[in-house]
Amino acid sequence: MSMIYDERNRLWKLDTPNTSYVLGLVDGRFLAHIYYGAKVTDTDITYILRLNEGWKVPSKQPEEYVSFMSALPMEFPVSGRGDYRESCINIKTEDGQEGLELIYDSYQIYDGKNDLKGLPSSFGDNVQTLEITLKDTIVGVEAVLSYSVFEGSDVIARSVKVKNAGDRIIHLTKLLSSCIELENEGFEVLGFYGSWAREHIMERTRLGHGATVFESIRGEEGHDGQPFIAVMDEKTDEDSGRVYAMQLVYSGSFLAKAKTDARDYARIVIGIQPSGFDWKLEAGEEFQAPEAVLTYSDKGLNKMTHSLHDFCRDHIIRSKHQYDKRPILVNSWEAAYFDFDEKKILSLAKSASDLGIDMLVLDDGWFGKHREEPKASLGDWYCNENKLKGGLEFIGSELKKMGLKFGLWFEPEMISEDSDLYRAHPEWVLHTKGREPARCRDQWVLDLSNPAVIEYLYESMAKIIDAADLAYIKWDMNRPLSDIGSDYLDKDRQGEIMHRHVIGVYELQERLISKFPELLIENCSSGGARFDLGMLYYSPQIWCSDDMDPVERLAIHEGTALLYPLSTIGSHVCKGKNDITGRKVPFKTRGISAMTGTFGYELDLTQISEEDRKAIPSQLKEYRAIQHLVQTGDYYRIASYRTNGRYDAFMNVSKDKKEAYLMYMQVLARPNDKGQRICLKGLDPDMRYEVECEDRKETYKGDVLMNVGFILPCIREDFSAVMIKISAK
Ligand code: GLA
Repeated sequence: MSMIYDERNRLWKLDTPNTSYVLGLVDGRFLAHIYYGAKVTDTDITYILRLNEGWKVPSKQPEEYVSFMSALPMEFPVSGRGDYRESCINIKTEDGQEGLELIYDSYQIYDGKNDLKGLPSSFGDNVQTLEITLKDTIVGVEAVLSYSVFEGSDVIARSVKVKNAGDRIIHLTKLLSSCIELENEGFEVLGFYGSWAREHIMERTRLGHGATVFESIRGEEGHDGQPFIAVMDEKTDEDSGRVYAMQLVYSGSFLAKAKTDARDYARIVIGIQPSGFDWKLEAGEEFQAPEAVLTYSDKGLNKMTHSLHDFCRDHIIRSKHQYDKRPILVNSWEAAYFDFDEKKILSLAKSASDLGIDMLVLDDGWFGKHREEPKASLGDWYCNENKLKGGLEFIGSELKKMGLKFGLWFEPEMISEDSDLYRAHPEWVLHTKGREPARCRDQWVLDLSNPAVIEYLYESMAKIIDAADLAYIKWDMNRPLSDIGSDYLDKDRQGEIMHRHVIGVYELQERLISKFPELLIENCSSGGARFDLGMLYYSPQIWCSDDMDPVERLAIHEGTALLYPLSTIGSHVCKGKNDITGRKVPFKTRGISAMTGTFGYELDLTQISEEDRKAIPSQLKEYRAIQHLVQTGDYYRIASYRTNGRYDAFMNVSKDKKEAYLMYMQVLARPNDKGQRICLKGLDPDMRYEVECEDRKETYKGDVLMNVGFILPCIREDFSAVMIKISAK
């Protein structure tokens, strides 16, 4: 890794092990995006800007300033000065006027990296940072662009901080975190769509001259989006082709957009959603935009995934549990929903402990006066002792006797109309004047821009975590934001609410982890509606989807694991007949499906068949034997049921290539079929491996397994999964 400033060419070159990123000055003033891609060793590359093709720089041709602005590939494009492509920044002055011009001022390169105030961001020991300061002296705006590269990583972390350097108030109405410009050589765009119980479905489309936009205006990314965008060659597959990817370390509304201009330059941007955003900056105040994570691969999507997974594990997830083996849990939600008392919970716990499970998670329904259905009690974070006699302390101490850890569900950002909290503080609900806020799951959203709300939530949660000695909390968020109005903020700060909500969540999780350093947080949002790098900074795992049907999980898992390490993906064994799809899948397949992430059970262990119960100890043993690979291995996609309609397969290989496992699922059996041949990936071609598949144990050379392949048994049943272990001899 290195960073240099080349005075002769007036450019900066950032190198990672396999990539280079180059930006530089044009006409001594404007910051241009020059190159991003495979590593280059020379800096004589400014010719790529084509500065002599028709249009000239403003010092030579001031009368054609707009032509210049609308043609130059900009590193941090501004609004209002003749660049009609997507900008990264806009402001409004007290005179109601928009637009600015950011001119180069200075730079510095240093070892290390500063935290982003109030926001999650990447960290590490061996890191270098470049900061470039741009200024608009007319409206008094200063922007500091930061770029960091980490030893051994093909990721560049980029962010921007804006300061009101003048003496009058300004409103920041748009601030995106990152922009790159590439010549579109027939690119495709990769993004995500989805819904509740069908999250993170990958989609590739052609990048034409119309914009391709992935965005959220929900206050979280939502089930239907991911703060991510990639452009790539049309022919890019898992193992070959170019991919340029950008991901945001943020958990709120976002914009990711790619658009090609008439000269076939594609501009790709990512950042906080500008729609509805308006942040007031008094003289001297600063605003920090979230960090964007950039990576380039010329070895297809698997290499992009490896760069993102390693970066996430090593430089984003801060939890002390990151490299610990996470507890295997039983969760009460689909086991009992709201229908439980202390006896039922303790008998579920007893079965779990007898079987060798590590933790019981008491999900929704334990708090307030009558949380028998979703409509009541959110905000009342005290135990319902009519339902749970003896309270949480009693449950906690009984679990301890059984050798189980205790985990508990919260949904802190929400409030029910029928709650003590609402009766005491109706003004704490997000609402616009004179209108009842829109209901969703019959609940409303708390105004986290109000520090009193944050304080209330922190105090009530900390009290319970302490008293019940919780090892884990599941932090849920079961509806998006609406009715964006706050009684607490002044009228000229209402455009800050969405972002203040996100930083309020960050502040709360930061405070809880600081107070309880051992606490494991699992984030969740009606399944996977808030699965992003921002949340992973605080919690090393996130509930991936309410849909645990192993067939449905294939596409959900494929999309989630494209970006996020398997160790972050919350997955549980569901009931025999899935509550969402009604599909009946064998217990073995449900077990293997849950082993694709953090492992647990979400069914009533006291009610399952004897045969299934007997299978649990060996399922636990099987998972524990691969858990270290789930935590740290390299993940390779091999076959996608989403695209082939028949079967799915992926591998996870240890960094030293001595151990691996392969998961294979045949979704529908085909009569008169042959055993499926799978070419393995990521092994050492020269090593010999023992392959253990069901009752077969065979030895092969690595290059044979990767090129000739492995023949799976003929499987005659639908929804059948096998897990194959591969170890060096
Ligand atoms: C959400 C979560 C579920 C469960 C319920 C409880 O839907 O995704 O796992 O916790 O809330 O109400």
